[in-house]
Amino acid sequence: MVDVVLEHLTKYYGKVRAIEDINLHIKDKEFLVLLGPSGCGKTTTLRCIAGLETPTSGNIYMGGKLVNEIPTKDRNVAMVFQSWALYPHMTVFDNIAFPLKMRKYPRDEIQRKVKEVAELLQISELLDRKPRELSGGQQQRVALGRAIVREPNVFLMDEPLSNLDAKLRVYMRAELKALQRRLGVTTIYVTHDQIEAMTMADRIALLNDGLLQQVGTAEDIYTRPANLFVAGFIGSPPMNFIDGSFVEKYPEKAYIDTGFFMLDISESKDIIKKNATSDELVIGIRPEHITLSRKPAEGAIKTKVYVVEPLGRKVIVNLQVGDTIFKVEEDPKFKLESGEEVWMIFNKDKLYIFDKKTGKTII
Ligand SMILES: Nc1ncnc2c1ncn2[C@@H]1O[C@H](COP(=O)(O)OP(=O)(O)OP(=O)(O)O)[C@@H](O)[C@H]1O
Ligand SMILES: [Mg+2]
Repeated sequence: MVDVVLEHLTKYYGKVRAIEDINLHIKDKEFLVLLGPSGCGKTTTLRCIAGLETPTSGNIYMGGKLVNEIPTKDRNVAMVFQSWALYPHMTVFDNIAFPLKMRKYPRDEIQRKVKEVAELLQISELLDRKPRELSGGQQQRVALGRAIVREPNVFLMDEPLSNLDAKLRVYMRAELKALQRRLGVTTIYVTHDQIEAMTMADRIALLNDGLLQQVGTAEDIYTRPANLFVAGFIGSPPMNFIDGSFVEKYPEKAYIDTGFFMLDISESKDIIKKNATSDELVIGIRPEHITLSRKPAEGAIKTKVYVVEPLGRKVIVNLQVGDTIFKVEEDPKFKLESGEEVWMIFNKDKLYIFDKKTGKTII
């Protein structure tokens, strides 16, 4: 039973804030993904957990025990990094055996464990080869083998798939997840790739600029983003946003005026009035929640096709509304040409409204 608890975890490098006040409970056997853009503090968080960095403040617990003062070698964590640097002069066997040799395991136990791990990772026939005689994916598995051979309490992985080509990455994603399930080892996995995060994670912790933005399942974060940053980061193509101001019309009506169209939000009038800090709002709608019509219709917004991007199973239609481009997911059967006039209809149930000043989600 090993869970990992981060309590007010903060790390400054001089004046540079890497992470601030991170509170997170990673459950036993959980696959937690730390996700966020470059420089947001993912590696720093992982290095603090590993004991490779000393936090400026805050606590780290493993299995209920405070580990702040415990050195890396006694935390029983295994790390896999982006550049998984195998020892080039050693065979695959010796690479995997290395952490056991360092800890002076008896020879026959080393033999047994390396064989076991090699079988698990399906690299048994590669044990006599040198790293340069392996493909990228095979090297990656050797690096994983070296990490798991000690049966650690926690896996810490920092973008371990980012050096692989796209196809192999997709394959290894599923392999790695299956392996984690089989071993049942609590895992903290860092990536900046939202697809990787969504496909692998039990839960995602999304960071931006050193601050934790939201923690939840892929579905939670996709359907109930806590703020503008989360809404814009998760989803491909991303959510469409347009600024507008809240306008109340006596007696029952309310609109968001974008300068290009007025969106009727009368049903949400009270919630907005209660929660918005000012009249400045941002409308958000995902590309799959807009439908298109060739004719004007009630509540439809007139636009012009800017460009159409075919993706095989669907097309992404880029529409111009003033100086904003809306991306809409459509059926390829809906043939549209650049410059054509078309009307957008928002699915009102899937509409988001954000407070522009605080970035918080109102609806
Ligand atoms: N040793 C260091 N000295 C000074 N600043 C550092 C150091 N390590 C990281 N930083 C800064 O701390 C912040 C967080 O860095 P970190 O490496 O944790 O980001 P990251 O999320 O892992 O980014 P990436 O996706 O690019 O790997 C950045 O602003 C970075 O420049
Ligand atoms: Mg990093």
